Amino acid sequence: MKNAPNIILVGPMGAGKTTIGRLLSQTLEREFFDSDRVIEEKAGADIPWIFDKEGEDGFRRRETQVLQTMLDDKEQLVVLATGGGIVMREENRDLLKSELMVVYLYASVEQQLHRTSKSNHRPLLKKGNPKEILTNLFKIRDPLYREVASLIVETDARHPRAVANKVLDAI
Ligand code: S3P
Repeated sequence: MKNAPNIILVGPMGAGKTTIGRLLSQTLEREFFDSDRVIEEKAGADIPWIFDKEGEDGFRRRETQVLQTMLDDKEQLVVLATGGGIVMREENRDLLKSELMVVYLYASVEQQLHRTSKSNHRPLLKKGNPKEILTNLFKIRDPLYREVASLIVETDARHPRAVANKVLDAI
């Protein structure tokens, strides 16, 4: 396990990236980062505030900076959970493609909807009907997740521990 690569989790909102990322970091005894939380810490503000004041473009710029910084650090192997929109920028996709272990956590739109229904910190879901929004985002992003991923794990019918084990089996 010593030479294991960075593990980067991509996938839609509600795929379980944070939950699975924490499990993986515990098992691998590696630090866990969630790009959304790193962005918030650096900005000293939460994501709804950033979207409100800087727009989605401002948020995406911050997201790219965080991704670059995290992946540049060759000293430390990490488990990194990314925001659902990380694949929207080509430069991010290129960065991800240069990593050995990018895991697409697949979740159906129904599951995404179910798992995000209790949170209110996702500005994109407040723009209209969440099901329509998730459906439209998924149409655009599913192929992009597939483009960058070296492993795809279906999460709908799996307990988080079983999802984490699938990833560990592939390392
Ligand atoms: C976003 C997903 C969120 C967060 C931001 C935008 C997106 O992260 O980065 O609200 O564009 O799908 P999660 O996927 O962790 O919810």
